[in-house]
Amino acid sequence: MNELITLNDKTFEIYLTEAEIQARVKALADRINVDYKGRKPIVLCILNGSFIFTADLVRHFNFPLTVEFVRYSSYRGTESTGRVTKILGMKSEIAGKDVLIVEDIIDTGYTLSNAVKELMRQHPASVKIASLLLKPEALKHDVACNYIGFSIPNKFVVGYGLDYDELGRDLPSIYQLKE
Ligand code: IMP
Ligand code: MG
Repeated sequence: MNELITLNDKTFEIYLTEAEIQARVKALADRINVDYKGRKPIVLCILNGSFIFTADLVRHFNFPLTVEFVRYSSYRGTESTGRVTKILGMKSEIAGKDVLIVEDIIDTGYTLSNAVKELMRQHPASVKIASLLLKPEALKHDVACNYIGFSIPNKFVVGYGLDYDELGRDLPSIYQLKE
């Protein structure tokens, strides 16, 4: 395994290994399996970053579910723009449904607080959030995350779905920007 990687102009060092991530994903899925027993939620994958986390999670689930995808954009390079643009919406009717939002990372919380507000207008039965990563020091908006993989320092990370200028999403491990 490479300890250091380079994407465009930046160097990143290993932060969470594939094995650490997979063990944590399984542990989260075990809890979610208990909580969603007997239900049939919509698993809402926030593209692009959470496509891998969603794919790994749903394969551990043992309740019936449907998968939906939405896409927002707020990042340019390694900085949040503080604005969120909706690029792709959902096809399903969500009134009366349980919705489990799957996100790669909660940074300022802006993306998710907006997504939840928008969902609530459609009267789902319940909304819960699973995020692989959370940067507590960066959080500026109120987001109640029910399932958190790892709380991490306020440093830019890539891999396991997360990108730096669209690169690095394919890496099985997570890397942190090297200062
Ligand atoms: P927020 O709206 O500030 O919470 O930002 C959330 C989105 O920004 C996430 O869904 C990611 O796509 C992206 N993001 C935030 N932090 C990072 C990071 O460290 N690396 C890569 N993408 C990030
Ligand atoms: Mg994302």
